[in-house]
Amino acid sequence: MASVTDIVRTRAVPRPGAAPRAPTALASNDALVLSHVTRAFGALRAVDNVSLSVAAGQKYAVIGSNGAGKTTLFNTVTGDYPPTAGRIQFFGEDITELPPHERIRKGLRRTYQSSLLFRDLTVRDNLFLAVRGVANGRFSLWRPRWNHASMVATNDLLERARLSHIADERVANLAHGQQRQLEIGMALAGAPRLILFDEPAAGLSPAERRELVALLTSLPAHMSFVLIEHDLDIALKVTERVTVMHNGRVLRHGTPDEIENDAEVQAIYMGGSRH
Ligand SMILES: Nc1ncnc2c1ncn2[C@@H]1O[C@H](COP(=O)(O)OP(=O)(O)OP(=O)(O)O)[C@@H](O)[C@H]1O
Ligand SMILES: [Mg+2]
Repeated sequence: MASVTDIVRTRAVPRPGAAPRAPTALASNDALVLSHVTRAFGALRAVDNVSLSVAAGQKYAVIGSNGAGKTTLFNTVTGDYPPTAGRIQFFGEDITELPPHERIRKGLRRTYQSSLLFRDLTVRDNLFLAVRGVANGRFSLWRPRWNHASMVATNDLLERARLSHIADERVANLAHGQQRQLEIGMALAGAPRLILFDEPAAGLSPAERRELVALLTSLPAHMSFVLIEHDLDIALKVTERVTVMHNGRVLRHGTPDEIENDAEVQAIYMGGSRH
């Protein structure tokens, strides 16, 4: 009788001379592809015909002035507000119609512009709940089952989020920057393939911004992220590719250098100065 490993091996290796297989989710080199994505709220097109692609492992920024449609773009990707037109692919798979929890199961995470932490619990407990929530496919608040794997994963997240030294502190006592770090730590639970960060530097002090940059640049090479950020020094420093949005539309795609030196971007978005 064939063992499980035999079956896996047989399925993984195509027979010689077999017809090439149709592309699978794993075959795609792109983590995220948006094709002509629109999200309308009544007459308002908050996101209007946006196309972009994020390569696997790529660090990507979306910038633009207030109300440009950046958060709404994230909402179309997570399924909180699905697109009203256009398609979204995640690692080669069309996820346009999937409910949010199915997207999470496939390795998509996000952080929010406003905090969603459990303020009366400790840093460790918040991360533990994130670990268990991902394991269950949902957040379970009562009777979490402590087990060894979850504890190990929680300790790993404490280190990654650079919060081990305050693991047993109540979240309510944390500085603002530490709370944002914790949110990122929670988004890292369950080995995500792509994380959407919505303005993680908002309200941070210069020292806290440096800590955030250290955290973002220490993320694994294979993990993709898309960062919405008003602080261009951060956005252009930690990413390899940038999309500028304006009035729901794409104004420009480019490398950080190209975006920084683009006259139209400077005129419309930066008001001619970055400092
Ligand atoms: N649920 C909603 N219902 C109606 N209109 C909405 C909704 N969400 C967003 N909008 C509108 O869509 C437009 C884009 O908003 P969005 O929050 O995506 O902008 P943003 O680029 O994230 O801005 P900011 O930098 O201020 O966070 C705004 O005009 C906003 O009022
Ligand atoms: Mg926003």
